[in-house]
Amino acid sequence: MWNHSHQLCCAKALLVIGVLCVLSFGIGNAVHIPTYGSSEGETRPPPDQLATLPGELKFAHVIFRHGDRTPLDPYPTDPWNNRKFWPTGWGQLTNLGKEQHYELGKWLRNRYKSLLGSRYTNEDIFVQSTDVDRTLMSAQSDLAGLYEPQGDDIWNPRIDWQPVPVHTVPEKEDSILAAKASCPAYDYELATLEASSEFQALYVRYRELLSYLTQNSGRLVKSFIEAQYLNNTLFIEKLYNMTLPVWAEKVYGKEELTYVSNFAFSIATFTRSMARLKTGPLLKDIFERFDKKLNSQLKPDRSLWIYSAHDTTIANVLNSLKLFELHSPPYAACIMLEMRVDDSNTPLVSVFYKNTTAEPLPLDIPGCGLSCPLKTLVKVYQDVLPVNWERECKRSTMMMTYEEANLGAATGILIFIITVLLCASYGLMVYYRRRHYNLYTSYSQMA
Ligand SMILES: *[C@@H]1O[C@H](CO)[C@@H](O)[C@H](O)[C@H]1NC(C)=O
Ligand SMILES: *[C@@H]1O[C@H](CO)[C@@H](O)[C@H](O)[C@H]1NC(C)=O
Ligand SMILES: *[C@@H]1O[C@H](CO)[C@@H](O)[C@H](O)[C@H]1NC(C)=O
Repeated sequence: MWNHSHQLCCAKALLVIGVLCVLSFGIGNAVHIPTYGSSEGETRPPPDQLATLPGELKFAHVIFRHGDRTPLDPYPTDPWNNRKFWPTGWGQLTNLGKEQHYELGKWLRNRYKSLLGSRYTNEDIFVQSTDVDRTLMSAQSDLAGLYEPQGDDIWNPRIDWQPVPVHTVPEKEDSILAAKASCPAYDYELATLEASSEFQALYVRYRELLSYLTQNSGRLVKSFIEAQYLNNTLFIEKLYNMTLPVWAEKVYGKEELTYVSNFAFSIATFTRSMARLKTGPLLKDIFERFDKKLNSQLKPDRSLWIYSAHDTTIANVLNSLKLFELHSPPYAACIMLEMRVDDSNTPLVSVFYKNTTAEPLPLDIPGCGLSCPLKTLVKVYQDVLPVNWERECKRSTMMMTYEEANLGAATGILIFIITVLLCASYGLMVYYRRRHYNLYTSYSQMA
């Protein structure tokens, strides 16, 4: 019964189904076009003076970068790639870094003296750090400046310091501050962005620079972020008055490498959906905490929340708030989100960015200004506030490549089932026709 033409029919059906499946999945993938957030060219009117903001300060969130540190991982041909030049070890906070945060802590004490009692209590403040040595140590140095022991808190007259708790979560479990908890939908968005024609064009534009860095550093530098790491090592060595190799002097501090390094800070939150998955959980926590504070639901009823983190955290938060101007956030750079309550009991939020020793000015929140009502603020940033982050991080099969989703196997099984059904029904049809034919021939024989 299964002659050659039957097999051919099944093979054709299989081919047609296969092509249809591939086409529909292809379209499914192609239709998913990311929308690009602009990280450049936001015009912000420079307020000439620290505006006197309406209302009384009730709560502040502070997010800062750690202080001065040693290089994370020098490049293979680096003449300074030796622990003897960096006695504290790689990626560690230096004494200068401790000093920077001690000073910032004193500055924060002055700014927030209306929120904090002069003596430490866990009912005023909560401090969270990423689980990294330099951010934990920066938080502690900062708190040394913020809470110099007073009166009865002096526990040892020779030590002008008291312990203050710093909380942390292992990086891989931290979806809030380190933002390193697994999020497959985010990884997919990032890969899609890197593969986009816009990014490919950028890679073509900087191809020569990247291959120059690769050839001379002894390390493959194929992405803007890898170029940024290299720039950062050179930046630190320069800061420490170490002579750079001639090849490095030719690119370091020049427009191309500086641009690429700064641009790399915009990549993690380049699209609004990437910002939502990367920074959304932190922003959501911050906005919800403002709301809880307002409704006396914060227990204990604290007034200051400090986050100790990284340059990427600073860039990601600013970019998600559409307030990032391309630059490399310096040591101890500090974002402040402050809530004031005015006479009519309206909560107003202002955002400050302190990245120099100058007094920071409030930033112009897009479409809401320097003093933004909390309700409006939440609306302005609705697009980056996840409703259910864990669910949003899961990827539908339509977002996956064939290999990842094992669609090859899934499609194969589907095609096999459909083919079996088709062939079975065809076989049945042939069988009934034959029976009919046999009946016919028997009649004819009778004739
Ligand atoms: C590097 O040199 C400058 C200028 O001489 C000096 O001010 C600075 O302290 C030096 N930096 C270090 C880390 O030695
Ligand atoms: C890259 O180098 C520039 C100097 O050209 C420096 O200002 C910037 O901070 C560096 N970026 C990083 C991430 O180190
Ligand atoms: C400070 O922040 C502003 C605004 O984002 C930026 O334009 C500038 O380059 C930054 N300066 C430093 C030293 O980081």
